[in-house]
Amino acid sequence: MPHFLRKFLRVFRPLIHKDKKEILKYPEINLDDICGSKLGKGAVKECFRHKKYSDRCVKYADIEFSRQIVREINYFNYLRKKGVQSDCVPKFYGAFRCKDKIGFIQECFLAKEDGGCFDSVCPLAKVANQIELHNKVQQKLDDLKSELITKNIIALDLHGSNIIFVSKNNIHRTVIIDGLGTQEAVPLPQLFRPLGRLKIERNWKRFLRVYPQFSK
Ligand SMILES: Nc1ncnc2c1ncn2[C@@H]1O[C@H](COP(=O)(O)OP(=O)(O)O)[C@@H](O)[C@H]1O
Ligand SMILES: [Mg+2]
Repeated sequence: MPHFLRKFLRVFRPLIHKDKKEILKYPEINLDDICGSKLGKGAVKECFRHKKYSDRCVKYADIEFSRQIVREINYFNYLRKKGVQSDCVPKFYGAFRCKDKIGFIQECFLAKEDGGCFDSVCPLAKVANQIELHNKVQQKLDDLKSELITKNIIALDLHGSNIIFVSKNNIHRTVIIDGLGTQEAVPLPQLFRPLGRLKIERNWKRFLRVYPQFSK
C-alpha cells in the first residue's frame, strides 16, 4: 500500500468507524412501512411523504453518503440537546437505517393543495427574480440571517431550493430544509459563537454571490 494511502487511512479510518458506530444506534426500519409517494430528489437524498403523518417526510440516501447524513442527524440532535428552537429549522423526528440506506424523518413542507398542511409553500428560487416581491423577500432573508447569527445555527448549503417560505394560518416562516450543520471533525463554529458567526457570514456571502439582488 502506498505511503500516502496508509497515512490517509490512519487519519480517516477512526472517523469512518465513528460514523459506523453512530449508524448502528439508529433503529432499523423497513422503508416500505413509512415511505409514501416521492416529493423530490437532490444531489444526495431522496424525500418521500410519510405514510402515516401528513406533516412529516422521510429523507434518506445510500449508505455511501453516510458522512453527510450522520452530520445532519448529529446537528439536529445537537440543537435539540442545547434547547435551540427556531422557525428556520425543520422539526426533527429521528434517524433510521435499513439495509443500505440511512435517513431521518423531518417536518414536511407541503401545501394543503398537495396533501400537506401549509397554506402556501414557495422556494426562494421561484420568487427571487420577481421584482414586485423583492422588498418582501429581502426582509425575510435579512430576518433569516439575523436568526442564524443570534442562535448560532450553521447552514452550509444555502441556495434557492433549500430556503423556502411557508405560511399557515397567517404565520409565516422561512425554513432551511437542507444542509444544516458543520463539516469539521471538531465542530469549532458550533462550540464557539464568534467562529460560528464568521462561518455564517462566509456562507451568507457565498449565497449572495448567486443572489446579488439581495446584497442591498
Ligand atoms: N422537509 C421537506 N418538505 C418537503 N419537501 C422536501 C423537504 N426536504 C426536501 N424536500 C424535497 O426533496 C428535495 C431533496 O431534498 P434535499 O434535502 O434538498 O436533498 P439533498 O441533500 O440531496 O439536496 C428538495 O429539493 C425538495 O424538493
Ligand atoms: Mg438540497
